[in-house]
Amino acid sequence: MSIPVTAARMWLTRSAAPFHFTPDYDQPLPLEGANPLGLYVHIPFCRSLCTFCPYCKVVYDPALAQDYLEGVLEEIRLVGSQWPGRRQATSLYFGGGSPALLSPRLGEVVRALEEHFILTDGIGAELHPRDVTADTLSALKEAGVTRICVGIQSFQPVPLSGLGREQPDPTALGAALAAVPFDTVSADFIFALPGQTFDHLRRDILLAEEMGANHLAFYPFIDFSFTPGPNQELSRREKWALLNQLTQFLLARGYLRDSIWTFAHTPGKGYSSMTRTNFLGFGCSAATLLPGQFKVNTFSVPAYLDRISHRNLPTALTCRFTQRQRMVYDLFWRAYTTRISPEEFQTCFGRSLDGAYGLELRLGQLLGWLRREGGDWVLTHRGAFRFHLLEGHYTLSYIDRMWGLMSREPFPPGMDL
Ligand SMILES: C[S@@+](CC[C@H](N)C(=O)[O-])C[C@H]1O[C@@H](n2cnc3c(N)ncnc32)[C@H](O)[C@@H]1O
Ligand code: SF4
Repeated sequence: MSIPVTAARMWLTRSAAPFHFTPDYDQPLPLEGANPLGLYVHIPFCRSLCTFCPYCKVVYDPALAQDYLEGVLEEIRLVGSQWPGRRQATSLYFGGGSPALLSPRLGEVVRALEEHFILTDGIGAELHPRDVTADTLSALKEAGVTRICVGIQSFQPVPLSGLGREQPDPTALGAALAAVPFDTVSADFIFALPGQTFDHLRRDILLAEEMGANHLAFYPFIDFSFTPGPNQELSRREKWALLNQLTQFLLARGYLRDSIWTFAHTPGKGYSSMTRTNFLGFGCSAATLLPGQFKVNTFSVPAYLDRISHRNLPTALTCRFTQRQRMVYDLFWRAYTTRISPEEFQTCFGRSLDGAYGLELRLGQLLGWLRREGGDWVLTHRGAFRFHLLEGHYTLSYIDRMWGLMSREPFPPGMDL
């Protein structure tokens, strides 16, 4: 566990107690006060598995994928039958894996969710570039998808070859996207890859724009301990230089930074499944965040189907938060969006942000990491880089440890983070 992350956690939660995960779970789920609420559905199938990828994924097997889809429909019924009628939800995101492999049946999942939820903010889906064809895009549109995110990683042969990915063809992608347009077309890139320069990134941005993307994500490459990929991360100085050049270039082209690593060309055209106050996740590895707890489903498809066949929730680990832990979790994701709203904090926790973290916010302001804007606290460019470093530690101390364990054991005995 990284010392800066442990120290920050102890300071901000005002306690030495770790995030304690246990294998027991609540059925029915404690949904009281879970408002606003986002939805997420994980589809773990991919045509082939990329060596750098930490997500829960398995090689596509058509028969298993059909069984899995039935399992997801059952999990939705199990959770949705907890309340009468339909409750308000904001957005729905399909992540993976490659959700488009099940595009002919995603409409069934949407309809099953709509029996229990009223969706107010559209539907998103992640796509591998190979799935960006007019037929698949039409099937997604038919299912109700309004925004998509394409995993480009890079258009340039040099960083791509190290990732073992095929070079996407921006002209073919652009033609399919022009034939079947979506409100938001986001393009995912990885930066700070060995051999990658700012010039590669600059060309990637121009090609993404030509392809029709109106939202761009640049994730710093992370060498997860449980993935077999050969790449190593660049130094902190090299990452800072690239992130700096990238940010200046995008801001000068009129982009708005809508999170540490994402930039929107048009205000309001965002793509993000993680930055929700509460969310319900369905499928393998899907996480659920509620006012009092965070829970994660098993990463194993057979274990998932077995639990569901007994009409039990597929939860593998649950962390029941103290109030300070919940505040810190929330503030982490608010800071990731680069904007913290005292009003939202008050609504969520029933106490003022200033009363809870006034000292830390003023310290951040003195260090030049935060500034006030229309009542909100906003991360400055320097603050965003500090957050980017913290996020690196967080990923290795929390995500890497948890996902590493979950990818080895379907139902671990518990863990402390
Ligand atoms: C679920 S994946 C992509 C969706 C789709 N399956 C694809 O491959 O195009 C989501 C995104 O996470 C990012 N990502 C995956 N592994 C990463 C790593 N090791 N470091 C940084 N970003 C990573 C990539 O940008 C990727 O597009
Ligand atoms: S990057 Fe995408 S295609 Fe590759 S293994 Fe991960 S989810 Fe599957």
